[in-house]
Parts: sequence; C-alpha cells; structure tokens
Amino acid sequence: MTVKGTTPSYWTKSYFRRRKSKEKSWRVGAEPEKIFLQRVRNSLGKNLVLLDIGCGDGNTVKSLANKVREAYGVDSAPRLVEIASKGAAPNVHFKTGDARRLPFPSQHFDRVICQRGPATENKEFAREMARVLKKGGKYVGIHIGERDKENIKRIFKRGQLYRSFVRKKSEAGRQIALLKELGFRTARAEELNPTEYFATLRDLIARMKRVPMIPHFNRTSDKYFLGRVQKELTDEHGIRTNSHRVIISAAK
Ligand SMILES: C[S@@+](CC[C@H](N)C(=O)[O-])C[C@H]1O[C@@H](n2cnc3c(N)ncnc32)[C@H](O)[C@@H]1O
Repeated sequence: MTVKGTTPSYWTKSYFRRRKSKEKSWRVGAEPEKIFLQRVRNSLGKNLVLLDIGCGDGNTVKSLANKVREAYGVDSAPRLVEIASKGAAPNVHFKTGDARRLPFPSQHFDRVICQRGPATENKEFAREMARVLKKGGKYVGIHIGERDKENIKRIFKRGQLYRSFVRKKSEAGRQIALLKELGFRTARAEELNPTEYFATLRDLIARMKRVPMIPHFNRTSDKYFLGRVQKELTDEHGIRTNSHRVIISAAK
C-alpha cells in the first residue's frame, strides 16, 4: 500500500484502534486477502526462507511459519514488532527496520511478501526488496489500487492514490513496470474490485480514522463531505463503496 505521510506511531495507533473497533463492514464478491494468502501459500516450501515487509503484528508470518524453514517479519513500528515477537515459533524472527534500509544481507530470502505494506511504494523501496531477494526468488504482494473507495474519493476530491485515480494511472501497471525495470524476469498483476459496505456512517468514520483512505480526515471540518457520502452512497444495505486491490506475483 502507499504509505506516504504515515509514521510508525500512526500505524501503532491504527493497530490499537482496529483491535478496539466495533466497526461493521463487509465485502460482496471476491476476497482479495484470501486470494493473496493462497498465492503466497502456493509459492512456499519447507526449505525456503521467507520475509514479510511491513509485517505489522506478525500474524501473517506466524500463520505461514510451518510452511517454510525460517520466517522473518520486518516493520518500522517498534511496538508492533514487540507484539509480533510474542509467542512466535522458534523459526520465526521479527526485526524493527525501515523497508528502505532492510537489516538483512543481499540475496538472503527465497520469498518476500508484502500485505499492504511499503515494498513497492516507489523505486527506493522496491530496489531494497529486490536486493534481499535471491536470484530465482519470488515476490508476492497485495496493495491498494487507485480505484479503491472511488465514489468516496470523488466526493472528498482527495484520498489515497487520488492523483493516480483522476489521471487514470494504473497502480498495477506502475508496479509491474517498476519490477521489470529492476530486473525481475516475470511480473504479473491480478486486480480485484469487490463491493464494500459500511453499515452506518459511524462505521465508515471509524475506518477513516485508522487508515489513510482520506488524508487529514477530520470529522468536523469534513462534515459537508460526510453528509454527501451518507446522502448519495446509502442503499438498502448501508453505505456502498468498493475495495480495489492489486495482487502482484513476480519472479527475480
Ligand atoms: C496497512 S499496515 C499492514 C500491516 C500488516 N502487513 C497487515 O496486513 O496487517 C502497513 C504496515 O507497514 C508498516 N510500514 C510502513 N512504512 C514502513 C517502512 N518504511 N518500513 C517498514 N515498515 C513500514 C507499518 O508500520 C504497518 O505495520
């Protein structure tokens, strides 16, 4: 995911907000995160060493640990790394570190994954991800697409990847081109765009407060836009929007 402007403390706060949240939302159609995990699982093997960039609380790495020889997670938020480290199996290791200067030697990993983290945010990040991946290794990532929450961003006239969205610049295309430029032999993208519902405006606000969907979101100064969202996007189920995700599978 594009994490521009976010900080380690932003993500730590976001994590605790999610834990406390009673937000009611659901998706109709494809389940991008499940498909991503399936692609990741299919690429793993008992002799392989895995890295998750932007691992957050480490749950994904922990759930994959029995499928690989060693599993590593790295995140720039020390508190999240502390949480991740608790109860980890002996073959699972977590480190605090910036994805632009990964604390690992070159060509160390057989597989690198990234679940809405910064691995392919720009060339600096992607070059570092490619550095630690072995020749012949594979990268699998899931990222937010430019059309995510498209109808909400249109009302706010701002939002995550808004510039790409209005200029019709494809995030999948950008990432594929970047990986090819960095010497990946193959790189392909799957785009998924399920419908997403929020039961009430309050549920949508809870999400906006914990993810960078609308930068600098403030429920008081953004009252006008929230009113329009409620009026224009509500149907018989709730507030209807979409969830655009890009799954990247690449081989070095
Ligand atoms: C949307 S969260 C995803 C967390 C986790 N992958 C998950 O799916 O639950 C993005 C994560 O990327 C981490 N992150 C953001 N910028 C980073 C950077 N420059 N280096 C390392 N991690 C970073 C954040 O701390 C956060 O945990």
